[in-house]
Amino acid sequence: PDNGLVRTPPMGWNSWNKFAGKITDADVRSMADAMVSSGMSKLGYVYINIDDTWELGRDASGNITTNNKFPDMKALADYVHSKGLKIGIYSSPGPKTCAGYEGSFAHEEKDAKTYAAWGIDYLKYDLCSAGDIYPSSEANQRGLYQKMGDALEHTGRPIVFSLCQYGQNAPWKWGAKVSGNLWRTTGDISDNWKSMDTIGFSQLAIASYTRPGHWNDPDMLEVGNGGMTADEYRTHMSLWSLLSAPLIAGNDLRTMTDETTSILMNQEVIAIDQDPAAKPTQELTKDGSVEILWRTMQDGSIIVGFFNRGDQATDAGVQWSALPGGIAGKKLKARDLWKHEAVPTTGDRFNANVPAHGVVLLRISGR
Ligand code: GLA
Repeated sequence: PDNGLVRTPPMGWNSWNKFAGKITDADVRSMADAMVSSGMSKLGYVYINIDDTWELGRDASGNITTNNKFPDMKALADYVHSKGLKIGIYSSPGPKTCAGYEGSFAHEEKDAKTYAAWGIDYLKYDLCSAGDIYPSSEANQRGLYQKMGDALEHTGRPIVFSLCQYGQNAPWKWGAKVSGNLWRTTGDISDNWKSMDTIGFSQLAIASYTRPGHWNDPDMLEVGNGGMTADEYRTHMSLWSLLSAPLIAGNDLRTMTDETTSILMNQEVIAIDQDPAAKPTQELTKDGSVEILWRTMQDGSIIVGFFNRGDQATDAGVQWSALPGGIAGKKLKARDLWKHEAVPTTGDRFNANVPAHGVVLLRISGR
């Protein structure tokens, strides 16, 4: 069944990439504050998601309890909601979470009820120890996720269901059938070029499985965490947007540089991610170290991205007459979405110098 949520990819923030086990109630509140004061919430970043390490154990009736980092989850949810935002939480289908905390095994209905009572809007459900108990066959994994999917539905509260099992058993083929709104397609991202580049470009092969309400999830953003250059982070944001990936920031929103906000808050790039048609991105061609990707937008314009995966800056380009998407031959209008300026379309060819690990991103329409 389809819960009708996230018709465009979810946008928000998650605690894991920056805080891991150190996240507290106070951090989550201040992150919600920063989401609003930075202007990010106005651009669509609305989910404030608590990842692993909030759990304590179970009370005498078997209800999940929170540890002293999260004294009152209901009060925290109320606070996040008072800011006009939504709140997410994390659990696992096994007895233990990935960080070794209490999981939802055999307590699915109870836990879903508790989340609903707290006012939770989003659940990330992370396989981990369930994979040790059950051989990780497709049937077993589907069963585990179906249990929680059903339990969430029984609460009557709209809760986004985020499957996290690292792409095992091709969840893009069955995730929607177990009520999943998104499913992780790979192992964990880390804040470096190799990890981001490998994950990002591996997604092209499954891009056609992503669709309104049901999204491939190549993991959360590392933009602003310091392990990549600004060019690499622009590539990260561009690629995730072209892929209609969830845009879940993973940095400290309270201390962002202007460069970080210019990347996370690039409205012209966010518009690609949030395009309601959610068309798959495809490879157009390769030009040396430059991978040229393209996609059609709902309004008939196309996006073309020149991604330099090499270690040296290089020139790349395309004949205007060789553009896909049915716009070649029309009188064209083009815009550079990182420079925020018009690109002349008078010559035969578009040419640009693409920085090492960087991107040039164009939106082109016929007029
Ligand atoms: C797994 C997930 C991560 C994070 C951690 C938490 O590794 O893939 O995204 O949730 O667990 O323990």
